[in-house]
Amino acid sequence: MIAPETAPSHEPIHQGTFWLPKASSTLAPGVDHAWDVVMWVSVFFFVIVIGTMAYFMWKYRRRTDKDETSTVDHSAKLEITWTILPLVIVMGLFFVGLSGFMNASVAPSDSYEVQVTGERWLWTFIYPNGAISPSRLVVPKGKPVRMVMSSKDVIHSFYVPEFRIKRDVIPGQYTSIWFEATEVGKYTLECAEYCGTGHSDMLATIEVMEPEQFKQWLESAGGDKSLPPAKRGEALFNKWQCSACHALDGSRKVGPSFKGLYGREETMSDGRVIKADENYLRESILLSNAKIVKGYDPVMPIFKDMLKDDDVNDLIAFIKEQK
Ligand code: CUA
Repeated sequence: MIAPETAPSHEPIHQGTFWLPKASSTLAPGVDHAWDVVMWVSVFFFVIVIGTMAYFMWKYRRRTDKDETSTVDHSAKLEITWTILPLVIVMGLFFVGLSGFMNASVAPSDSYEVQVTGERWLWTFIYPNGAISPSRLVVPKGKPVRMVMSSKDVIHSFYVPEFRIKRDVIPGQYTSIWFEATEVGKYTLECAEYCGTGHSDMLATIEVMEPEQFKQWLESAGGDKSLPPAKRGEALFNKWQCSACHALDGSRKVGPSFKGLYGREETMSDGRVIKADENYLRESILLSNAKIVKGYDPVMPIFKDMLKDDDVNDLIAFIKEQK
């Protein structure tokens, strides 16, 4: 699955400039180059245009009441020049951008593939060996990794500033993007498409590891079976970022708090009163929107295909402990 030999390592390209964050992927230099070209061409013309304008304002200012307005109304030569010249320049900029875009769109054929699912408001990563990693994307350094992405609900966008990559994640179809990380470290994946209340919290950690370390992580990504169920449930609670919507201290978030939830009588949005027993909790985790507590919105992801029976048992054990 992972090439045993270590791929050639890359030095950090730069630690960030006034304009740009640290550059940590092989795609970054192309993007930064395009950015620099556009920036300096703009600065050059800004100085010429604004400078000339300011100079003429001063030179041809009205000095006496007898000053007359010029009779020259246009110059064909000048107008053709300032039409053709910018056209040539923007065509040049187009190709600078296009080469970077093509490079980011077509992944190398030996890329490692990770399945990415976006949904309100969670990123989930599925590895070729079946390991599921919510909110945490672990990748090897110095190896191209291709994301095959789709959304379960609305449009999200996979955005990692340090890698200089961004691509929409769309329901009903796959999009892909790739990167090769050049430095071991932690980065933040952001959602860059407004997708509702939790949009700004739709984050995931990207952890770049040495290939050897990554291999070990992948093998152990199944979870620890030696812990008591409630402890495993707590780990799942954190792993799946349930805390983003469910407090443990009784306070109200996007969803109800788990404090004292087990055994409590809850009023549903349709007026029914239901006791929060094991079956209610199980249904509310797997088919999240089957029953909605009054006053809340049906926004929780469906976990039916993401959690195993054992996981649900562990989560319920954890919820029962929140007295
Ligand atoms: Cu997902 Cu914004």
